[in-house]
Amino acid sequence: MTAETLALFPDSARIDDTGSLVVGGCGVRRTADQFGTPLYLYDGETLDRAVEAYRTALSRCYPGAAQIAYAAKAWLCSASARWIAAKGIGLDVVSGGELAIALHGGVPADHIHFHGNNKSDRELAQALDAGVGRIVVDHPDELERLDELAIARGRRQAIWLRVNPDVDTDTHHHTQTGHAASKFGLSLRDGTAEAVALDALRRAGVELAGLHCHIGSQLRDAEPLAVAAQRLLDLAARLRDATGWQPAELSTGGGWAVAYTAEQLADLPPVETYVARVSEAVVQRCRQHELALPRLVLEPGRSLVARAGVAVYTVGAVKPAGDVTYAFVDGGLADNPRHALYGATYTALLANRRGDAARQRVHVAGPYCETGDVLIEDIELPPLVPGDLLAVPVSGAYQLSMASNYNAALRPAVVWLEDGQATLVQRRETLDDLLRRDLV
Ligand code: LLP
Repeated sequence: MTAETLALFPDSARIDDTGSLVVGGCGVRRTADQFGTPLYLYDGETLDRAVEAYRTALSRCYPGAAQIAYAAKAWLCSASARWIAAKGIGLDVVSGGELAIALHGGVPADHIHFHGNNKSDRELAQALDAGVGRIVVDHPDELERLDELAIARGRRQAIWLRVNPDVDTDTHHHTQTGHAASKFGLSLRDGTAEAVALDALRRAGVELAGLHCHIGSQLRDAEPLAVAAQRLLDLAARLRDATGWQPAELSTGGGWAVAYTAEQLADLPPVETYVARVSEAVVQRCRQHELALPRLVLEPGRSLVARAGVAVYTVGAVKPAGDVTYAFVDGGLADNPRHALYGATYTALLANRRGDAARQRVHVAGPYCETGDVLIEDIELPPLVPGDLLAVPVSGAYQLSMASNYNAALRPAVVWLEDGQATLVQRRETLDDLLRRDLV
């Protein structure tokens, strides 16, 4: 059980001779003592390896130019932005707020792609003034407004069009984004995508650099991703026939899954399988249509950062209720709403000591005033006592970025682990932070 669970943790994770978890050369017990819990740990080595896995896969599988653009929405703070800048990869942002953090963290503006289905004029202006590399247009109105704003600044902004390729995906319906009724993108099916592309090619304030889609998240099957890429290239071929234009860039978005539990790990194909299938589809379709190979852009979020992150909680009490037993911890829905929102499954490891061989079935629940404030339903753990630490692996994506102040919870501290060094990169919120915006 422990060995299987340990495989979900960052590459550097091990159990020391006291039975406690060590990540990045740092004892989790000591780190939790130092910074308090709930605590989010990120392992630098695992982050770097995830980027390398994508780089290696792209260089093996795709014969043209390629770019990795991390989807900031998975986890963004100045430290992650700084890491992205150091890696020299691109960054996808979806709001003026994400753009500001990215720039603050030193990501060069021209490496940034600005996505979003309802960007405000203020955000479009902010993106233009910052000099972002690509703005990803989602609807006809946006194209018109962006064109005007760019012309007013004497600019010609490179854009992509977000195309809705009408592809179904096997994932939670909240994370499906490529089907016809999705709020995202320009419909391929009803001709809007083609019409907007032709419109864009006539405008002075924008330069159509490529086509983009993102069909969903936590996808385990590469086939729908390949089909979406083919449909975008079919559109590109029609546009080439009509105008001579060809896409210099093709972004198929992100979406590759990670395993949250040992069972999921057993049947999740590696990143290379996904990159290989998408690359093959692009190469084959370009050959068929006699299109030049575009620069292939992949936008992984979860699969770059999830496994590097570990959430650490302190057990407050163990309480039987009816025919179940709760292990209460000091975080939950406020720092990780994913179980409540998507029924996401997680596992956990007793992190501060070697547990008994005995096992107890518990629901791991938080302190918030919601019955849905459950992190893990029905997990077997050694009998827990107050003060124990539970470490939840694969906590690096869409937890902190979706964390809230529900019940006036203080958002957790974030510590970066590398070579035995634990660096506090984001402090825990304080009561002063909670009151900072109140004016009376
Ligand atoms: N590109 C675009 C345009 C996206 O909208 C997304 C994610 C990504 C890339 C990255 O997708 P990833 O590789 O991380 O799957 N809150 C949900 C996930 C929402 C994903 C939204 N878009 C969750 O916690 O599962």
